[in-house]
Parts: sequence; C-alpha cells; structure tokens
Amino acid sequence: MNESKLFKLPLKDNLETKNVLKQLNKTSRALAELKGVAKTMPNQNILINAIMINEAKTSSGIENIVTTHDEIYRAMISPNNTTPEAKEVVDYRSAIWEGYNLIKDNNLITKSTIIKIQEKIEHNNAGFRKTPGTIIKNTATNETIYTPPQTYDEIIDYLNNLEKYINNVDDDVDSLIKLAIIHYQFESIHPFYDGNGRTGRILNILYLVYMNLLETPILYLSKYIINNKMEYYRLFQETRQTQNYENWILYILKGIEQTSEETIEMIRKISEEMLNMKNELRNNKLTSKIYSKELLEALFFEFYTKIPYIQKQLNVSDKTAQKYLDILVDLNFLSTEKIGRERIYKNERLFNIIKNFDDNKIINKDNTFNIETVEK
Ligand SMILES: Nc1ncnc2c1ncn2[C@@H]1O[C@H](COP(=O)(O)OP(=O)(O)OP(=O)(O)O)[C@@H](O)[C@H]1O
Ligand SMILES: [Mg+2]
Repeated sequence: MNESKLFKLPLKDNLETKNVLKQLNKTSRALAELKGVAKTMPNQNILINAIMINEAKTSSGIENIVTTHDEIYRAMISPNNTTPEAKEVVDYRSAIWEGYNLIKDNNLITKSTIIKIQEKIEHNNAGFRKTPGTIIKNTATNETIYTPPQTYDEIIDYLNNLEKYINNVDDDVDSLIKLAIIHYQFESIHPFYDGNGRTGRILNILYLVYMNLLETPILYLSKYIINNKMEYYRLFQETRQTQNYENWILYILKGIEQTSEETIEMIRKISEEMLNMKNELRNNKLTSKIYSKELLEALFFEFYTKIPYIQKQLNVSDKTAQKYLDILVDLNFLSTEKIGRERIYKNERLFNIIKNFDDNKIINKDNTFNIETVEK
C-alpha cells in the first residue's frame, strides 16, 4: 500500500524555480488579459452563465457524467423532465454559483464553504469522511494508487492547515503557485467519500476570485485536465514520490495560461455576436423600434429566454414582451418551441458558440486508466 506522507503547508521547498518563474510570467500575463477582456463585457452574468455551462458539463464528464448541450438546455427549463446526467450538470452549475456567492459574502474560504459545495454536487450531507477505508484505485487494474488520510481527526487536522494556508493572503509565494499547491493538497487529503475532484475544481476558481486575479468565476481547468488526464493523474504520484512540486506546478500554470487564452477567444466570439445582432436589430425597420441595450443583453443572458424574463428585464407588460419575441422569431433572431407548458425562445447563435467551444475529448477518452475513490 502506498501510504507516503502528506506534508503540512506551507512547504519548506523553494517553489519558485527558474522554470516555474518563466512559466508564471506567461501565465500571469494571459490571466491578466482575460481579466481585462472580461471587463469590456457590459453584463458579467452573460459571460459567467455561458462559460459555466461548459465547465459544468466538462467537469461532470471527468466523472463519466456525460450529456449533451441539448439535454442540458432541457434540464435548465424543465428539471423534472430530463436525464439524471443533465440534471447533475445543472446542479453542478448551481454549486459553482453557491460557492461564488459564499466567498463574496464571507470573504473567506473555509471548511464550511467546501462542505456546502460538495453537498450541492453530491446531494447528500455526509460531510467529511468519518469511516476509514477510502482509497484511490485504478479501475482497470484494481490496484491501489493512493491511500489518503484515514481518520476523521487527521482529515480535519489537514483541512485546518489547508484553510489557514488558503486564507493567509500575505504569503510571499505567488497566488498562482499557491493555487497549484492547494489543489494538490486538497485532492491528497481527499476529505469526502466522493466528489473530491469536482469540489477541488470549484475550489480553484473560487481561489482565483478570492485573490482578485479575476473578478468573476470565468476560468476553469476541467477541459485542460480532461484533455491531459493521464498526465494529471501521473503527476499526483510523481510529486508524492519525489516530493518535488516543480512539474505539478508547471502543469497547473500551463493549464491556466492555455485556458485563459481559450476563454478570451470565447468572450470575443460572444462579444462579436452581440455586436452583430445589435447592428442587425438597429438596421432593420421592424426591430429598430424595439431595440434597446437591455433587450440585447436579455437575449444573451442565457441561451434561451421566456416571456416573463423579458417582461421583468425590460420592465414591460407581458403583451409587449410577447410581441417583441414574436417579431424576433419572425425575423429568425430567435427560434421557439414549447417545452412542457412553457414557450421557450432560444438564441441559437449563442447556443452554437457555447457548444462549439466544448471540444474536449470526453467521448473518445482513454478508458484504460480511470481512477475511482472506493471504500476498501
Ligand atoms: N494519485 C492521486 N492522489 C491524490 N489525488 C488524486 C490522485 N489521483 C486522482 N486524484 C484526485 O481525485 C479526484 C477523484 O476523486 P473523487 O472520485 O472523489 O472525485 P469526483 O469529483 O467524484 O471525480 P472526478 O474528479 O473524476 O470527477 C481526481 O479528480 C483527482 O483530483
Ligand atoms: Mg467519484
């Protein structure tokens, strides 16, 4: 059995090696650019919503919860009338929102924040592990890869240490390096029976926002992790064996750089499409009269809308809202269908942008090596 020691934080090693600093420079630049580009968007919720859909889908996909954008769309509208997988994805999105609101309100990331996120994902309140027996296993060979701390007391002790490390904002170590260490440590403590990966990935984005490296939760590593999954699992073990964190830190920093670049591209696409639609709406005789900045933003708030949303967001009567939407459907700005008893208006342009950015390898993923947390 592999019971290598898990060290407390902060680590004594020098983490800022030459290679790390070189990569850190590139990563910080990309992230700062993302922060800047995001700010140019008039309504932050548009970005948060669009980006979170793919994150929820991808992050759940690592756990083999595989669904499609069309199913997610249905689940968002009619949660009782959908596949369990799509529902998981929609719930995962609520878990990110919950975490984001918690740290905005409390300005701290605590054990209780972490528990609340995991509860939302797993739909149970088992909390931190109380019964020993949880191990990380390779499902193909059945071999034990890693045995995390076993007793409740040990787990709480490591978590208290991690909590202190996360919230110590005067550290000399760069926050992005700290993020890598926090992720490694959290996954190594593996405090829950299940959902540690998904909770840890949410913790990453909350930390970026907490440290003000981003203003809103718009950067997620799940796609990078799923596309580099073998490396991700391998590096846990390498780091554990060598106690040298350099490759692990480089892996995470590269992920943040790459993902920042992709996210910038997605934001640009959404912005561009909003601008196109704005011009088309203003240049058309039938829509120029109903055009407003608020209407445009309402159409991009989610990739679908409903009469009551428009009514509320534009402060108009339901008749007027209905009239606007009818015009937009007639001119092909929106498509419409009835789901259950509700009439839904879909912004296909936004829907397609979101869908096209979800090009990870979930479907063809290598199943020869999968890890699973199991009880012995
Ligand atoms: N050797 C390892 N040492 C420590 N942590 C590991 C190791 N291998 C994998 N992990 C972490 O364990 C997570 C899986 O744990 P768990 O099944 O509890 O989480 P999950 O959210 O249900 O799954 P997933 O991350 O696959 O979506 C991985 O995402 C990874 O972060
Ligand atoms: Mg699991």
